[in-house]
Amino acid sequence: MSQDRPVLQQLQGPSSTRILGVGSYQPERIVTNDELSETMDTNDKWIRDRVGIIERRFAAKDELLVDMAVKAGANALADAGVDPSEVDTVIVPNCTMPSGIPNAAAQVADRIGITAPGAFDLNAACAGFCYGLGVASDLIRAGSAGKVLVIGAEKLTDSVDPTDRGNAIIFADGAGAALVGASDTPGIGPVTWGSAGDLVDSIYMRDHKYIYQEGQSVFRWATTQIAPIALRALELAGLEPSDVDVLIPHQANLRIVEAIAKKLRAKGAREDMVVADDIRYSGNTSSASIPLALDHMRQAGTAKSGDVVLAVGFGAGLSYAGQAFICP
Ligand code: UT7
Repeated sequence: MSQDRPVLQQLQGPSSTRILGVGSYQPERIVTNDELSETMDTNDKWIRDRVGIIERRFAAKDELLVDMAVKAGANALADAGVDPSEVDTVIVPNCTMPSGIPNAAAQVADRIGITAPGAFDLNAACAGFCYGLGVASDLIRAGSAGKVLVIGAEKLTDSVDPTDRGNAIIFADGAGAALVGASDTPGIGPVTWGSAGDLVDSIYMRDHKYIYQEGQSVFRWATTQIAPIALRALELAGLEPSDVDVLIPHQANLRIVEAIAKKLRAKGAREDMVVADDIRYSGNTSSASIPLALDHMRQAGTAKSGDVVLAVGFGAGLSYAGQAFICP
């Protein structure tokens, strides 16, 4: 190559990022286990014992994924005290946007008042928020973005056969968001992510309409394969299990959450580590479950500013991702 060839300039961002603010939104309508048992062969005791859900929220027919994402995103900006004009990138992890185009992110950004941002959806199913947080942090560190709004949002009730008792009792609607920006000290650890595409048939959209899952195989996979991912995220951040103050696994099933916590405690996580159980009142909201739990735990005071949080998402794909971060 001759010496006078042009050399491309490369950008370089700040070395550290953190979560600046968190927000969430849930639809008004509360659906109890008893209400579900009026239309399908199930009961409150079975659902509480096998899944841990007490109630969940269902969006109204005319309340869309985009509507919920706008509210959660605006709440995260308000929490951070950041004006929409300061945000340059919007990522909406989700797997239930009804159509391929348009994506959710561009219209969500527009409705929040963010002008001409980079905007894209990200589909890693229930691992989506942790994928999105990892991408946001690395975009900023690479100099490609300044402030990134990550909004996990799902309207799962549109994708569930209301007569399929295996799925209809689990899935719910909602949105949760985090605003990510530069930081003087490291506030978001490296993401660890991966996938097991050979197990794709264990959760998928049957006939492009309704979610089908082999509940027991996914359960076995999650309870055996996800704790090592969480431990790897800690290792990448240079942390020990005993450093974790708050554990937020994807809220798929309380028994899976408890199995992951048990495995981490066997590796040195503290007995007083707070473990998210937001599924009890929110159900399984896929990409939204981790930021929803984080926002609720901050409001309840169970996750405090400065706490070391370990998040790990997993689901269809099969896909998984996790990272440690400091609670804003
Ligand atoms: O978020 C994405 C990732 N997804 C997951 O991580 C989900 C993982 N899987 C699970 O959480 C659980 O497998 C489910 C909650 C989906 C199902 O729970 P399970 O304990 O695995 O139930 P099962 O399918 O093994 O069924 C056990 C029994 C069966 O009855 P028999 O055959 O033993 O008489 C089912 O017919 O429970 C019955 N059953 C129900 N009973 C009352 C299944 N669903 C229900 C129900 N109400 N809703």
